Amino acid sequence: MSVNTDRSYKMKLRDVENAFKYRRIPYPKRSVELIALLAISCTFFLFMHTNKLNSRLKEMEVKLQPSEFSALGLTGNHISGHDAGKHDDINTLHGTYQYLKSTGQILQLNANALNNTKNAEIDVLFYNRVPKTGSIQFIELMKQLGKVHDYDVEKDPQNGGIIPLLETAGENDLIDNIVGLEDGTVFASHVNYLNFTKYEQPRPIYVNMVRDPVERVISWYYYIRAPWVFVPGRRRSNREMPNPAWVNTEFDQCVLNGEKVCSYIEGSLLERVGDHRRQTLFFCGHNEFKCTPFNSRLPLQLAKQNVEREYAVVGTWEHTNETLAVLEAYIPRYFADASRMYYSGLHMEKSNDNPMKPHIRQEIIDMVRRNFTREIEFYQFCRQRLHKQYLALKLNDLMRMDDSLVNLKQANELAIRD
Ligand SMILES: *[C@@H]1O[C@H](CO)[C@@H](O)[C@H](O)[C@H]1NC(C)=O
Ligand SMILES: *[C@@H]1O[C@H](CO)[C@@H](O)[C@H](O)[C@H]1NC(C)=O
Ligand SMILES: *[C@@H]1O[C@H](CO)[C@@H](O)[C@H](O)[C@H]1NC(C)=O
Ligand SMILES: *[C@@H]1O[C@H](CO)[C@@H](O)[C@H](O)[C@H]1NC(C)=O
Repeated sequence: MSVNTDRSYKMKLRDVENAFKYRRIPYPKRSVELIALLAISCTFFLFMHTNKLNSRLKEMEVKLQPSEFSALGLTGNHISGHDAGKHDDINTLHGTYQYLKSTGQILQLNANALNNTKNAEIDVLFYNRVPKTGSIQFIELMKQLGKVHDYDVEKDPQNGGIIPLLETAGENDLIDNIVGLEDGTVFASHVNYLNFTKYEQPRPIYVNMVRDPVERVISWYYYIRAPWVFVPGRRRSNREMPNPAWVNTEFDQCVLNGEKVCSYIEGSLLERVGDHRRQTLFFCGHNEFKCTPFNSRLPLQLAKQNVEREYAVVGTWEHTNETLAVLEAYIPRYFADASRMYYSGLHMEKSNDNPMKPHIRQEIIDMVRRNFTREIEFYQFCRQRLHKQYLALKLNDLMRMDDSLVNLKQANELAIRD
């Protein structure tokens, strides 16, 4: 495709520019004073930068109410973090159902109101795949469904690589390419949320998958250390092979040693390369200030807002059957019959499974979880929303099966009449 060639040319150009930008400049001989002066002004610059960032964050946080985007109308405190054990069932289908019933919200569930597919302005499905959430499996499913429903699945030609934060021009190019695709195309790319409206382009159908954020991070940790991943990668880019200590350090040890790749500090910004700690980033966008501070409130709120307003479906393999049912009903053009297709063979294959992943001690997992509160909250939000979409489809069936629901409805109608 000529669009792709054009694009990969642009990417190459960008790589060259980046290489130039980050090239090491050899130290010229300078006087001690000059270096000291430089150091002071750098510190000052960093201080100003941090200050500016903080005040901008504050400014933006005010604009968003904390409970505005809570799938069940709960604040994060009720549903995330260490409470998860006790309250875990609120995030299961049954738990969500019980909760919605106890608050009467169940009767207001409305599939049409939870349907963002109808807001799409082009017949293109944009899957900005989060790495390590089972995206290969999901793409395989779409490829098979595409044969039946007559659509193509295009993977980003960027070799499956992950696209970092894009500048305006980069966002614009990518959006142009997506909008230029034929009707009935799935475009899959590891890229953060893109706002088509901002570039005055028609919006696609947004879809994505999520996974428990801590499991995801661990999975990533072992994935990049698997020889069949790093060997070809390094060959391609002519880099040296990693040292054995890097390859053989277990996640537990990495966390306990406080190594940089295994530390999860609230508010820390994105590293230049290889930083895949934030699942929320894929739902927030490309703004460094708003979207990258780790485990922070603003990125969480923006990510939730986008899921609620933009995404047709955000599923998870942890609730496979509901995800498939919701996809079928809310995006039938692409997913009609998805369950049958999936269970006719795909469910037996586990792509990208990594046998090197060992068992990680619970105390280490708990330690890490304590720093992922907002990432966990986001994941729970997505699960709750998925359950709501599912329950909205089943409301009539539920009425038949659950007498207390019928009673609730009657009581409600009486209350309205009185
Ligand atoms: C997308 O951009 C438009 C136009 O700039 C803006 O009004 C809208 O809030 C943005 N949407 C999201 C989800 O960020
Ligand atoms: C969790 O956050 C605390 C507070 O910022 C920090 O001291 C600790 O090292 C972090 N733990 C991990 C595993 O990153
Ligand atoms: C999901 O659906 C499949 C196929 O209909 C069924 O065999 C399986 O038991 C279901 N799983 C759960 C957890 O309900
Ligand atoms: C959602 O909207 C799409 C597009 O209009 C439609 O095909 C689908 O049937 C709708 N699904 C539900 C559950 O409302």
